[in-house]
Amino acid sequence: MDQSVAIINELIRSRRSIFPPSYVEKEIPREVVEAIVANANYAPTHRLTEPWRFTIFRGDGLGRLAHFMAETYKEQTAPEAFTMAKYEGLRSKVLQSSCVIAINMQLHAGKVPEWEELAAVSCAVENMWLTATAYGVGAYWSSPGNVEALGDFLGLEPPQQKCVGLFYMGYHNAPEKPAIRKPIEEKLTWVEE
Ligand SMILES: Cc1cc2nc3c(=O)[nH]c(=O)nc-3n(C[C@H](O)[C@H](O)[C@H](O)COP(=O)(O)O)c2cc1C
Repeated sequence: MDQSVAIINELIRSRRSIFPPSYVEKEIPREVVEAIVANANYAPTHRLTEPWRFTIFRGDGLGRLAHFMAETYKEQTAPEAFTMAKYEGLRSKVLQSSCVIAINMQLHAGKVPEWEELAAVSCAVENMWLTATAYGVGAYWSSPGNVEALGDFLGLEPPQQKCVGLFYMGYHNAPEKPAIRKPIEEKLTWVEE
């Protein structure tokens, strides 16, 4: 038991946001992606609505997503604000990744409020992030500006279905980074008597 506490402490504290420029050209095997999303399914969920949904882009699928991300930036940006560097950056972020998972929510109107669904989806993402860390896979949750258009691209049906971000993943060569956090003591109120 003591050993598993040490393992979970290490895993939680060493999980970092690892960004595509640090990703290396090495494919994450499909079985590893499956193991990562499998753990998402064990997130807590009020009234067992299990609101997490994922669209997984790998292989040639990444090219389609890269094109969409760059083109929607072009469509949604005034010509004077448009830069080719940003356009290329959006494409290459996807193409540098071995896998990108669209994080989607299936809402259950009248059953649980939306914030509870988002909380459950966030727990699912943390499970994926920790599992990725354990496999040596770098990952980060991105909230792109085109998230509404992304929902259309993914074939989601609003208002019951929503995309809440992209989860970029890749093996990486990023150096170990310490977590930047203020002490927990500043965030606690103890009531003991
Ligand atoms: C819901 C959510 C959305 C995020 N969106 C972005 C994003 O759009 N761009 C980004 O650079 N990081 C994003 N992040 C990652 C945070 O920047 C990162 O978690 C934070 O800097 C702490 O670093 P750490 O994850 O390495 O501990 C997001 C994180 C969360 C939880």
